[in-house]
Amino acid sequence: MRVTVPRNPGTVAGVVMAVFLVLRIPGAHCRDAPKNFVYQFKGMCYFTNGTERVRLVARQIYNKEEILHFDSDLGKFVAVTELGQVCAETWNTQKDLLAEFRAYVETLCRHNYKETASFTVQRRVEPTVTVSPASTEDPNHHNLLVCSVTNFYPRQVKVKWFRNQQEETAGVGFTPLTQNGDWTYQIHVMLETKPQLGDVYVCRVDHPSLQSPITVEWRAQSESAQSKTRSGIGGFVLGLIFLGVGLFVHFWDKRGKAPWEKKGKAGAGLKSLC
Ligand SMILES: *[C@@H]1O[C@H](CO)[C@@H](O)[C@H](O)[C@H]1NC(C)=O
Repeated sequence: MRVTVPRNPGTVAGVVMAVFLVLRIPGAHCRDAPKNFVYQFKGMCYFTNGTERVRLVARQIYNKEEILHFDSDLGKFVAVTELGQVCAETWNTQKDLLAEFRAYVETLCRHNYKETASFTVQRRVEPTVTVSPASTEDPNHHNLLVCSVTNFYPRQVKVKWFRNQQEETAGVGFTPLTQNGDWTYQIHVMLETKPQLGDVYVCRVDHPSLQSPITVEWRAQSESAQSKTRSGIGGFVLGLIFLGVGLFVHFWDKRGKAPWEKKGKAGAGLKSLC
């Protein structure tokens, strides 16, 4: 892959994506610069419909203030402050310089867009979606359900909450969309609700990376329902133990021997029992 940078005398270029920097020291006829100053150049390519509609604005900034820029829509340099007027007027008379900047729309903006689109504009990373209650307090109080949508790209995402298939709009809040710094985003969408036993909550996420939306379900289970489940399981296990002991005693009683002694082979470790 080759990313084009502008190439001309007096040019210091750094290209990151579609941004380029041009250093063009203002001539003596522009302005006498003091000893210490900061001069910045910011080339910005604006793409409003792929590479169909491209505009280049190459900004020249003196001590943090933009003094003039080249605007490809106008095809010339435009002064922004009084300080930039002399430079803009002078540079607009230089036909080769104008031609060079006009050509950047094609050789720099469109070129770099095409070279980088596959891993930028077209980048798609599917989100990971999880649902969790934020507090497990008194079930009679309002609870917070959090739908965490993480590690996705690009930033456009639609997250909706449903309760028993009805969309919930009241009581929905969300954290600001966070840029993780590794070309992924995350967002957390909260639903303030009072879950009733048997309620089914669904968080639905739609994103450009997905063929169809991701849905994650959460079922309301009260504290008492949870403890009932626990006692149910406990009771079942206890029942099994009693059944086992009962069967053991039954066989032992009937044959005067432990079940494993049926064939006269005593379990070595259990001999003393008999
Ligand atoms: C974007 O460009 C395409 C051609 O690539 C064109 O068909 C479409 O109408 C343009 N869309 C807009 C909104 O201008």
